[in-house]
Amino acid sequence: MLSLVLAAGLAALPLAARAQTPVLPKSLSVELPADHSMFPDGPGVAVVTNNCLACHSAGMVLYQPALPKAAWEAEVKKMRETFKAPVAAEDVPAIVAYLVHIKGAE
Ligand code: HEC
Repeated sequence: MLSLVLAAGLAALPLAARAQTPVLPKSLSVELPADHSMFPDGPGVAVVTNNCLACHSAGMVLYQPALPKAAWEAEVKKMRETFKAPVAAEDVPAIVAYLVHIKGAE
């Protein structure tokens, strides 16, 4: 008798499983924060990417307020002289131009 009940129970299992509503993943729309680890595209971005990501991420620049050209010149000078960033002198104008392009102020 017991074995008969067990067999009936086992036979009913697949049916019960099929009757369940399948659980499917749902797509949600999420807002990702802006990526501040890389420099945004623009003229001179390659020079800046090559010279300015060795010690800190692009966020160090991107979180700064907009600054006048002279301030960016002083910033690049500080990176080279105070922090010994290995930036070639001939790359400085392109770097400053890029910084003014993305974060310039009058
Ligand atoms: C040799 C390492 C090094 C390189 C390469 C480097 N930096 Fe920096 N940078 C630093 C250090 C160290 C700080 C200060 C971090 C702190 O204050 O915690 C800094 C800070 C900054 C800041 C924040 C403001 C400030 O003065 O503290 C800016 C903007 C900046 N760097 C821009 C640049 C740019 C543009 C380049 C490419 C020309 C560059 N960095 C390349 C080391 C470097």
